[in-house]
Amino acid sequence: MKKSFDIQSVRETIREWHVSGESIALVPTMGNLHKGHLSLLTHAKKIAAKTVVSIFVNPIQFGHGEDYERYPSSLDEDFSKLAGAGLDLIFVPDLEELYPGGISDDTRVTVPAISEILCGEFRPGHFSGVATVVAKLLTNIRPNFALFGDKDFQQVLVIRRMVEDLLMPVEIISLPTVREKDGLAMSSRNAHLKVDERLHAKGIFEALTIMAQKLQDQASKISILEKEYRSAIDCGEMRLEYVSVRRQSDLEYARVGDRELIILTAVWLDETRLIDNVQVVLKEPLREINV
Ligand code: PAJ
Repeated sequence: MKKSFDIQSVRETIREWHVSGESIALVPTMGNLHKGHLSLLTHAKKIAAKTVVSIFVNPIQFGHGEDYERYPSSLDEDFSKLAGAGLDLIFVPDLEELYPGGISDDTRVTVPAISEILCGEFRPGHFSGVATVVAKLLTNIRPNFALFGDKDFQQVLVIRRMVEDLLMPVEIISLPTVREKDGLAMSSRNAHLKVDERLHAKGIFEALTIMAQKLQDQASKISILEKEYRSAIDCGEMRLEYVSVRRQSDLEYARVGDRELIILTAVWLDETRLIDNVQVVLKEPLREINV
């Protein structure tokens, strides 16, 4: 397993692989790796001859006052987790490597509309930061496949749209959310949770699961389900940022006749913001009375 810290040596390795006709899969991460990340790696190894992981905490996807400074970093532990994973290349650039012109007046990639709703409404500029860094990784690593987690469902749609619009020759693959035993979605940010917060945090998936079942049963209007979810979350330690039922295809509001829906949510526990979602494929098309 090779480690590269600069873009030049990455390009050289990639060039050799291209010459020998080997397919490449890329898993971009911000490190502090957990089983969710590792599930992407395992799949990447199955579908491509060469697997690349990038580890880079990307400052431009964090807003002012967000947790960039305290984003958990554990590079040595990450390296040991990856040691037995059979990877071909770990790319760990520093800031100057990916942003040679700095990060104040640099070129950005912006995917309109979908970047401005849901998480984008509360984190302006976040998805432009994500799209920009992913575009840099894709153009330099030139993978056949790039893998992402459904845990960040909106992020996957932003990247798919960018790849389509910029005609990038890469297949985007998304994989299901890996959860802790009690249902909490694995996340690097879970490391910030204090013991009592961690206990409360499992309530997010519990409330989502109850809401998903009610949505499946078409028992009440969506707005009522959202209110019920809010009262389940907004008591004690947790504060709801948003919950919303959307269409899986474009994250627009659910409409009469839709079947493929998703419930997305963001929740604060003190200074830690967690996101999660549950996909629901309705047995019966969504009825007018429930919209
Ligand atoms: P990061 O949060 O480190 O996540 C890296 C990848 O792992 C993302 O595709 C994310 O969706 C996936 N992932 C995270 N938790 C997961 C879980 N519990 N189950 C399955 N997959 C999970 O997402 C980012 O980094 C950044 O925005 C990045 C794409 C690297 C751009 O900076």
